[in-house]
Amino acid sequence: MGTQRTGAAGAASRIQVSRTGRPAPAPRTGARAPHCASPSSGLPLDEIIVGDCIAALEKLPPESVDLVFADPPYNLQLENVLTRPDASLVDAVDDDWDKFASFADYDAFTRAWLLACRRVMKKTATLWVIGSYHNIFRVGAALQDLNFWILNDIVWRKANPMPNFRGKRFTNAHETLIWASKSPDAKGYTFHYEALKAGNDDLQMRSDWFLPLCTGEERLKDAEGRKVHPTQKPEALLARVILSSSNPGDVILDPFFGTGTTGAVAKKLGRHFIGVERDSAYAAAARARIAAVQPLAGAAVAAPPARRAEARIPFLSLIEARHLTPGEMLFDERRRHRATVRADGALALGPAIGSIHKIGALAQGLPACNGWTFWHAERQGRLIVIDEFRAKLRAAMEA
Ligand SMILES: C[S@@+](CC[C@H](N)C(=O)[O-])C[C@H]1O[C@@H](n2cnc3c(N)ncnc32)[C@H](O)[C@@H]1O
Repeated sequence: MGTQRTGAAGAASRIQVSRTGRPAPAPRTGARAPHCASPSSGLPLDEIIVGDCIAALEKLPPESVDLVFADPPYNLQLENVLTRPDASLVDAVDDDWDKFASFADYDAFTRAWLLACRRVMKKTATLWVIGSYHNIFRVGAALQDLNFWILNDIVWRKANPMPNFRGKRFTNAHETLIWASKSPDAKGYTFHYEALKAGNDDLQMRSDWFLPLCTGEERLKDAEGRKVHPTQKPEALLARVILSSSNPGDVILDPFFGTGTTGAVAKKLGRHFIGVERDSAYAAAARARIAAVQPLAGAAVAAPPARRAEARIPFLSLIEARHLTPGEMLFDERRRHRATVRADGALALGPAIGSIHKIGALAQGLPACNGWTFWHAERQGRLIVIDEFRAKLRAAMEA
């Protein structure tokens, strides 16, 4: 099978590679892309490499990518034609790229591509793999055998799954994503805990995600209205993956690019991508799709501040550092509420004693309150939010 980096320079440097045991896709046309390789990094940034991913990844520099998203063949092992009760054919995944002679063959392939990804992952990089019950347990075992460290498994619960037409099994209504770091002791990987929580009504983001399949406008169709790719993933799923575990400007590798969902979402969110896809028609569809994507404005995607990295300052420290005096009053911005600073670092509101947050919430009759932004101290007739004192203290500590 030939591996061809697309783009002006890439087309000229066609590299012949071969891998045993995998069927070659029918040659197709249309594999061209703008050449966006970064001369400084030596990486084919925002390009689609047409060819076998294991061979293609060998050409990339070691420790060069920040995130991997892999949607590999599932090895669905469909033995019979699937039909609906009205005898119409189900558009199942029966493509050559999903067929393997045996589980042993599939395992060898899985280990080979995982090792190829591992070599190009930075020490801080993480890897996502999506799969179904057909393959995900085998992938999970391979990850652990290869010394990756599983951080989470995410259940993507499908809002609109395909029914079990024969009524012989449960509706297969989810897929599983495994998220893993490069090794058990890998430190410093990206996880935007606070931002995910903020987007989830201030509750920790859970490991079960409820999202619809890719349908409607988002689903790529050919001139005859047929699906361009049988397993195009929803952009919302990729957005959650990318937003949670990468930063703007990061390089995201997808070794099984298909119609380029990873690339489309990466571009929209201000990340770079490197895609590898063995089928040039899928690659061409991906390229056209990504070209039409408008990146979001910087402010919409800027990396959230790493709040967990900031030193924690207890309210009592403001008193100890003499920014506040026991016995003085704190006020809300419009002086509707007032509370007394106690020597022990609590606030008093009538008979109630509690933290700045608890007393702030009580004063307003709300379930929760951020006391740091709610309470103000009076200095020379002006109200100063107490978060300013905390910032001064933090700056002094960091200095
Ligand atoms: C499950 S699909 C990925 C679909 C993709 N996530 C999307 O949203 O369009 C897997 C893709 O991997 C490709 N593929 C299979 N084996 C490959 C290999 N060894 N190297 C590169 N691509 C391969 C197939 O052609 C197929 O398009």
